[in-house]
Amino acid sequence: MRVRRFCTEAMAAVYAATLVENVIVQKTSPVLGLATGATPKTLYRQLIDFHRQGLSFAQVTTINLDEYVGLAKDNPNSYSAFMQRELYDQIDIDLDHAHMPDGTAVDLEQECARYDAILEVHPIDLQILGIGRNGHIGFNEPDASLRRRTHVVTLSDETRVANSRFFEDKSGVPRQAITMGLESILRAKFIILLAFGREKAHAVRSAVAGDISTKVPASFLQMHPNVTFVLDDAAASLIGRNATV
Ligand code: F6R
Repeated sequence: MRVRRFCTEAMAAVYAATLVENVIVQKTSPVLGLATGATPKTLYRQLIDFHRQGLSFAQVTTINLDEYVGLAKDNPNSYSAFMQRELYDQIDIDLDHAHMPDGTAVDLEQECARYDAILEVHPIDLQILGIGRNGHIGFNEPDASLRRRTHVVTLSDETRVANSRFFEDKSGVPRQAITMGLESILRAKFIILLAFGREKAHAVRSAVAGDISTKVPASFLQMHPNVTFVLDDAAASLIGRNATV
């Protein structure tokens, strides 16, 4: 596991975007696993800048980590709308190649199976992750056991409170989500976890230097051969300066 720390989120985003560009230019049909939430926004803005400077996403397939159950694509709080707004509207991606779980599917189990089939056909070259304050990745919440594949999850109270900043209040935050499972995330050839801000410092420390535990889903990244944590100083404040595990 590599850890890179930067003075500012903006500098971290430039570094991460360069790693993403490397994958895009080296592969003929690159597959990116993407995240939503506050954390990847600066990365996406940087990628949009790279696109304006000539980087094409025309051959890129994207597979997002998760989506709220019950929010339609055109709901501004859906992760589908987020991706459209924060990235897809401003790059040349073929939207037929941009995959997202459908949180409005009538049969959610069938929807999870459909998503797993997409993941089988398109092995992820580079997975972008954020991290929850409780150590979740995707919406794999701390639990006694973790699921391997795409599944429906009941969001923890902590996650609903944290995500209520995007809604009018907590009562508007859906109680369930569809998320890729831990094994699907760990199958990615290369993983970049982004974390910014002091409120992520505990989760980052547990993920990088704690025991591997289902109580901290991100700690399983220690078992992956090719992971880079890209942090700002605040998120890295509880780990040593030369943290390479
Ligand atoms: C979102 C996702 C989540 C977020 C995490 C951090 O697709 O998978 O794991 O990365 O909840 O969210 P932010 O970035 O809003 O702090």
